[in-house]
Amino acid sequence: MRAIAFQRCINPSCGATTDLADTTFRCPCCGGLLDVAYDWNRLPVPSSLKHFESKWANRANPLDFSGVWRFRALLPFAPEEAIITIGEGQTLCQRADAVAAFVGLNAGRLFLQYEGLNPSGSFKDNGMCAAITHARMTGARRAACASTGNTSASLAIYCSATQLLRGIIFVGSGKISYGKLSQALEHSALTIQIQGDFDDALRRVQEASRQLGLYLVNSVNPFRLEGQKAIMFRVLEALRWEVPDWVIVPGGNLGNVSSFGKAFAELAELGLIPRVPRLAVINATGADTFYQLYEKRGLRWNGGQFDQSKIDDYLAELDSANRKADTLASAIEINRPVNLPKALRALDRCNGVVRAIPDSEILDAKAKIGAGGLGCEPASAASVAGLRQLVQEKVISPSDSVVCVLTGHLLKDPDETVAYHSTDPATSAKLAARGVKQVAFANRAVQVPNDLAAIVQAIESYT
Ligand code: F0G
Repeated sequence: MRAIAFQRCINPSCGATTDLADTTFRCPCCGGLLDVAYDWNRLPVPSSLKHFESKWANRANPLDFSGVWRFRALLPFAPEEAIITIGEGQTLCQRADAVAAFVGLNAGRLFLQYEGLNPSGSFKDNGMCAAITHARMTGARRAACASTGNTSASLAIYCSATQLLRGIIFVGSGKISYGKLSQALEHSALTIQIQGDFDDALRRVQEASRQLGLYLVNSVNPFRLEGQKAIMFRVLEALRWEVPDWVIVPGGNLGNVSSFGKAFAELAELGLIPRVPRLAVINATGADTFYQLYEKRGLRWNGGQFDQSKIDDYLAELDSANRKADTLASAIEINRPVNLPKALRALDRCNGVVRAIPDSEILDAKAKIGAGGLGCEPASAASVAGLRQLVQEKVISPSDSVVCVLTGHLLKDPDETVAYHSTDPATSAKLAARGVKQVAFANRAVQVPNDLAAIVQAIESYT
């Protein structure tokens, strides 16, 4: 009899399956991407999402405490005794009226899913706990990734906290913020800085993993995306199991959107939600491959028969113009998203849209999110900046309910935040050099002499 959980090619006309233990993460038949798939009929699926509320009373069990594994019935690929958790997913979906006013939504209609609260400070821990669980099931001793910083921070923290695997990370030189690099170093990952950017690092880590048998934890790994489904389970939980009209997410390697699309498709198929939300993916203008292909060149999933030549042509154009990804939102500075086909499938299922937003608007949105009480890194703010544009375009109406995912914590990249708020020409030059000449919501530090009267006067005149 077939296994209850297995891996399956995402291309419906191929549909080849492979064993759960296969760590090549490519279809053995056509080389395409794989899903983790289940024979749901033979699994105990709860009859209602409310079932998961019973886990809240059982926080002493680490698997019920985890914001990922309390939903393990919806990602049932691992026996309980194999599951790894370090307490990931204790995150919040916050109603954000001040930010709603900024983007043009009615009060009570915008929620920010704040993934900065994870152990390593970004959403990556949702997927990493699942990938590390799978790595342990397959007996791996070394795990590797290429990263713009957050995947590597997450891998490093899971390796050091569990002592099960050695973490090896590939980063482009000068392409990773200090907050993230400090995590990799502090948590003892072997850190390999290569000349080049993320796209180069990802190619190299895949080659090295094949040659050395390293367990790859980039989001081409379908087990990572299983874990990231839990972000949407928690969104639904926070909204008392009501499906929002829209979910908006920044797009880099397109793992999140792929995972969210799979989560909603499965919940609908299992009869656990009545409809799926619409999805919006937001690129930075300087790294907008998905936007160009989906919105400008009309690339669509097309039942799995998507037009690969459109992708190849576009990437060849980038190469011949020597155009590298270039955005201050360094986490999404990616031109060759590995999950592109899965993202097309997600947008097909969830009637999605893609937008590309300039860095200046991303940073202004970030300042507004911060002023509203949640600190995020630049890439995360792309979701809110994109929402603002979609409201202006009237694609999203002020009465729609919207969830924006804030993917990473403010302290991941303090340099850019200080540069944004600074009047010091040396500091703010960093933004100007990357094309951001003006910022709208800077909170300037006030220079005051070391004198009580002057200090009192400054406080009185500014408050
Ligand atoms: N936001 C943050 C904070 C990220 O770190 C990333 C990806 C994304 C958004 C994009 O998510 O790839 O699922 O579309 N960071 C990866 C990394 C690439 O290496 O940390 P995606």
